[in-house]
Amino acid sequence: MITLADCSALDARDPLAALRERFEPAPAGTIFLDANSMGALPKAAGERMRRALYDEWSAHRRHAWTVADWLDAPQRIGAAYARVLGAHADEVIAVDNTTLNLHKLAAYALALTAGDARRRRIVHEREGFPTDCHVVQGLVHHGGGRWDAQPFDDPAELPALLGPETALVVLSHADYRSAFRWDMAAVNARARAAGVRVVWDCSHSAGAVPLDLAGSGAEFAVVCGYKYLCGGPGAAALAYIRRDLQDRAWPALPGWLGHADRMNFRVDYAPAPGMLSLVSGTMPVLQNAVMETAAAIWAEVDPRDLAWKHRSLSETLCTLLAEQCGALGVTLASPADYDARGGHVAFRCPGGGPACEALLADGVVGSFRAPDVIRFGLSALTLSHEELWQAVARLRTILAEERWRDPRFANVSV
Ligand SMILES: Cc1ncc(COP(=O)(O)O)c(C=O)c1O
Repeated sequence: MITLADCSALDARDPLAALRERFEPAPAGTIFLDANSMGALPKAAGERMRRALYDEWSAHRRHAWTVADWLDAPQRIGAAYARVLGAHADEVIAVDNTTLNLHKLAAYALALTAGDARRRRIVHEREGFPTDCHVVQGLVHHGGGRWDAQPFDDPAELPALLGPETALVVLSHADYRSAFRWDMAAVNARARAAGVRVVWDCSHSAGAVPLDLAGSGAEFAVVCGYKYLCGGPGAAALAYIRRDLQDRAWPALPGWLGHADRMNFRVDYAPAPGMLSLVSGTMPVLQNAVMETAAAIWAEVDPRDLAWKHRSLSETLCTLLAEQCGALGVTLASPADYDARGGHVAFRCPGGGPACEALLADGVVGSFRAPDVIRFGLSALTLSHEELWQAVARLRTILAEERWRDPRFANVSV
């Protein structure tokens, strides 16, 4: 049995413990297990926002674009996050949101394939995150009959779909419900051998599980900015294109700030080199100021420390759930093998959504996803093993006393 003392001992070995101080603490009694949904606020963000508002906007107005380097924030932020993604600094940019970046990268990947008329299929997970499915459906809808969507249900079906009729695969690296994580390198290798492009949505793995986009042969990827990456509500998302695939075609959304000569206001479009062509129009300057404070923290994180901490949290949580709540009906809904799990741990338990609400009332912030899973998202930067022990102890009490039956927990929040 894992004891509270065991958890304290693990925390004493935590190589990322010092980084916890760089984030605003949780209110007393609250345990945030929602990094898969909304990351923590960096302490430096408030002062950085004040400077952006007063020392930059108010003091310089339009001239702040130059004196405060607002225009280059997307590349600066991308470069700072590159380490935790296992990418090169010039392969990542922070721009728009995840959906828009998925659209842009998928359309760009299709442009690289369009010459091969046999390749008509865009493959995606039927029960993937809705936006991933909608992006594919949109490309097919507006594709003038050039593309067909090919959804699949079981991961085992994917290899057979990587053939000469497939142009593109859109995959969530880790599933938003179960946390099932694909073997990225293996999928990339098979896809490459079959001439198929892959766009990865790494929203539920990046910043939790160390990624090796470059090393695992990834060509295109996107990451939500406000989850594990702590960019703040409404933060830009990250887009990644492998170096050798940049500058091969026009971006899907050409715009003036992604022009090769953006300050000379030419009406004929010419894409800016590299990732900059993914910038279409004006970026969210104030939001980027906040995100830069998180990116600066991430730039300090050694991926090996992240690997140790996240694995340790995830394995500890699975064991605690089994040991303390197994007899009360809790079962794991995520893969039991850590290497097949993304950032969170999903489990089923009596009460489902109302149990998640009862946890919230008790200060444990997880999230429920229909039809039946509770998700605990694990931030390696801010979470301790002791907190996991306490959260599971509170869950045990809720289940043992069947507190979730209280009618005030009937309405389940997002
Ligand atoms: C897998 C996945 N992709 C994308 C998003 C968010 O997309 P966007 O940044 O466009 O809101 C989410 C949000 O929960 C997600 O879970």
